[in-house]
Amino acid sequence: ESPLSGLVNPFKNPDGELSISAKKGSNLVAVRRLRKDKTQRSKEAADVVGTALGDVLGLRERSQNETVVDRPNDITNQEVSSREEILQIRKSLPAYGMRSQIVQTVRDNQVTIIIGETGSGKTTQLAQYLDEAGLCQSGKSIGCTQPRRVAAMSVAKRVALEMGVELGQEVGYSIRFEDCTSNKTKIKYMTDGILLREALMDHTLERYDCIIIDEAHERSLNTDVILGLFKRLLAKRRDIKLIITSATINATKFADFFGGAPLCTIPGRTFPIQVIYSKHPVSDYVESSVMQAIRIHLSTGIDTGDILIFMTGQEDIEATNDALREKLTEIYSKSIGITRYDEINNIEIFPIYSALPADVQSRIFKKLESGKRKIVISTNIAETSLTIDGVRYVVDCGFAKLKVYNPKIGLDSLTITPISRANADQRSGRAGRTGPGIAYRMYTEDAAYDDMYSQAIPEIQRTNLSNTVLLLKSLRVDDILKFPFIDPPPLQTLLASLYELHFLGALDNYGNLTSLGIDMSKLPLRPSLSKALLVSAKNGCSEEMVTIVSMLSVPLVFYRPTERQKESDQARSRFFVPESDHLTLLNVYSQWKSNRYSHRWCGRHFLQYRSLQRARDIRGQLVKIMQSQGIPLVSSGTEWDIVRKCVCSGFAHQAAKISGLGKYVHLKTGMEIQLHPTSALYGMGDLPPFVVYNELLMTTKEYISCVTSVDPFWLMDYGGLLYDIKRIKEVDNDEVKGFFRLVDRPQDTRNEPDELDFRMKNCI
Ligand code: CDP
Ligand code: MG
Repeated sequence: ESPLSGLVNPFKNPDGELSISAKKGSNLVAVRRLRKDKTQRSKEAADVVGTALGDVLGLRERSQNETVVDRPNDITNQEVSSREEILQIRKSLPAYGMRSQIVQTVRDNQVTIIIGETGSGKTTQLAQYLDEAGLCQSGKSIGCTQPRRVAAMSVAKRVALEMGVELGQEVGYSIRFEDCTSNKTKIKYMTDGILLREALMDHTLERYDCIIIDEAHERSLNTDVILGLFKRLLAKRRDIKLIITSATINATKFADFFGGAPLCTIPGRTFPIQVIYSKHPVSDYVESSVMQAIRIHLSTGIDTGDILIFMTGQEDIEATNDALREKLTEIYSKSIGITRYDEINNIEIFPIYSALPADVQSRIFKKLESGKRKIVISTNIAETSLTIDGVRYVVDCGFAKLKVYNPKIGLDSLTITPISRANADQRSGRAGRTGPGIAYRMYTEDAAYDDMYSQAIPEIQRTNLSNTVLLLKSLRVDDILKFPFIDPPPLQTLLASLYELHFLGALDNYGNLTSLGIDMSKLPLRPSLSKALLVSAKNGCSEEMVTIVSMLSVPLVFYRPTERQKESDQARSRFFVPESDHLTLLNVYSQWKSNRYSHRWCGRHFLQYRSLQRARDIRGQLVKIMQSQGIPLVSSGTEWDIVRKCVCSGFAHQAAKISGLGKYVHLKTGMEIQLHPTSALYGMGDLPPFVVYNELLMTTKEYISCVTSVDPFWLMDYGGLLYDIKRIKEVDNDEVKGFFRLVDRPQDTRNEPDELDFRMKNCI
């Protein structure tokens, strides 16, 4: 039972009573709504961020690959037992032959760039070599950053095993909300985000002798920021060593960035690869990839090698998986008379994407008995992060799912976009690890040159930067445009981030951090969430808000298996708090808690136990941080309206008003948007007139997800910089009259938008 059920919505019939609109001259312009076909859209999205393309490296698909958090178990290729065996494996890695040269170069230089193929031993071996060579002084450690959490954990586990120590002692890892290190830790794997947080506390990273920036070619946002920070740090700490590793040949970019740093190349062990393009453009890349895989399977001996298919994301992977099974069954039923896919005994298909549990993922490494062939269907997670031995045939669909941010309208688009030529080469390369291979590309050679960029667009040029700007401001980088970015982010994005932070009260009119901004930067959360949490502490509902914030920091807790959609939708709707998806999340957590955090209870209610468990961990960590920062933890009990108001405080810039049946328009931009079909607000009967949302994402339509109904006066309270109330009929309550007076007051106490615009532009 939700505390809110039975409550009457005060804004049920808003028609004509109240209208709220974007303030004239506010910096966010109304935007034309464009309906375009898919490719045109993704091209446009790319244009938005492609302003400063230059010569950029690497690609990573954060939204896809980071959604699930796995324990560091089982993502290892070999089950290793004895010390000798481990040593044998270590010695067989290509990096081993370069060992003394690498150590010497690091000794002689402050910055070293190390290039090597995936699987050559960079991630697992480098830190060990430096440690063995005594480059790590007593009391200090070697830090190694990873763009992905899963990698940080699994690699730490692997290295602990290789060194014969307990994970968390000499070798440990640290990811957001989880620290598995001790004061004995000499080698520490961490996400790049953690190193940035540590830089906030300790600007010169005193506790490290060496920092290895791993997978730098992926050009994750945080990696780019760290590299910029090191430009300054290297001069302050002449004794610190920086090692940058990269999987591609484009590593000279890093060398140039650090004034001609030396490059060490680990010789590859790859075999020649024949690349075969499609002769004609394909109309359906899933279908043609399936047909290609089947052609390979039928025309080559099974012992010649396994097949790896690159697909865009979970949906396409599942579709490919189904189609492949169906086709194979059809073919084998004609030739050998089987009736079901299970009867085919010379093939095993493994889909892999990050939302799969770790133990399912690790199955792809299993060695099959002879006479069997593996077909792996993967996202670009298998481009560099995972190495599957035995692959000799690669089928590349030519696309990837990419999240691109449009700063003009604050919209994230998750679109299927052509990969870059560098990615295509990386994909092909996976065919040549154990012998000569063949890569089939499901696109024409012309398309590779006409439709693909030579390098992928780095994350910094296609993502919201509010977090980064707040961080840089906290690191006293005042002049953000002068910060040494390897590739600068679009000006528009920087400006949008400054406005957002100003709107939230983190920056003053001159772009300096306010005390609220300082408090916000101490929380490891997005600025909106930090603000909501801080405001809730003042309004007596931080117990509730910290739960909501934790629930928003994990992958979706609702489980919706394709074959039981109806049932699971019903289960979900039983948790609905009709005013708010945020409160719905709170409700789920509270009920789970009163059921003693039970695993079975989750199963019965179609909830993802792992996500809830993680939300609970995060909540625990956040509570600790709040206590250390003196932020009070108070509960509003069953009074949940105040919680909605505090949600509004963090999201007032992401507000929409109803327009017509089931549709909303964005208050700032006037863009038409829709409630996501899974929203609890559909349980309200009439949809509420004003809402704030957590995310605006374009998939097939522009959807807002995780939405809360708000009082328009709250929007005025927290969004006075942007909104004006235009007309109010039937004013009979004192509060409303009071508001009228506020609006009528001369505007001299407020900032003129134009002037603010000018100041903000000046401060970057
Ligand atoms: O970083 P790079 O791609 O150069 O190689 P690596 O990750 O250090 O991998 C070196 C070897 O360790 C490979 O043969 C991997 O299969 C193995 N490895 C493993 O067994 N378990 C892990 N979690 C990571 C690597
Ligand atoms: Mg690696």
